[in-house]
Amino acid sequence: MSVKLEWTADWSVGVEEIDSQHRDCLDHMNKLSAVAESGSDHAEFMMLFEDVMKHAETHFSDEERLLAETSFPKLEQHREEHARILDSFKSMRRDIEGAAEHSEKWVSIAGAVIESMINHLVKWDMEYRWFLLDNDLLEEVAAD
Ligand SMILES: [Fe+2]
Ligand SMILES: [Fe+2]
Repeated sequence: MSVKLEWTADWSVGVEEIDSQHRDCLDHMNKLSAVAESGSDHAEFMMLFEDVMKHAETHFSDEERLLAETSFPKLEQHREEHARILDSFKSMRRDIEGAAEHSEKWVSIAGAVIESMINHLVKWDMEYRWFLLDNDLLEEVAAD
């Protein structure tokens, strides 16, 4: 059964550019999960995984720039967490390369990608959402 992630307003960080990247990320992960479930096209799965990775890289650096501009106190920990996720994606990519004939592994990898990105959103990104909100920084960010 393919997992279909649906965006919820509870996940909004209050910054449209970032929310839109998070929504794109969900779309990418839904596609990844659907192709993993179909189990038929290793090259396409690999390509979609690369898309998720590239998208996450760009998103993380945009987010870090926002957190630096707003002097978010836990920027360093947040940055380390982003780096940890990207490292885990690199090791997943190696696993995918060696699993052309084992589509059951694609399903577990797609699941791990989704778990790690959603956990990050809920646990880490929500933390800076409250920081921006509590310090009245949202208008300032929106005006940039
Ligand atoms: Fe983040
Ligand atoms: Fe994020």
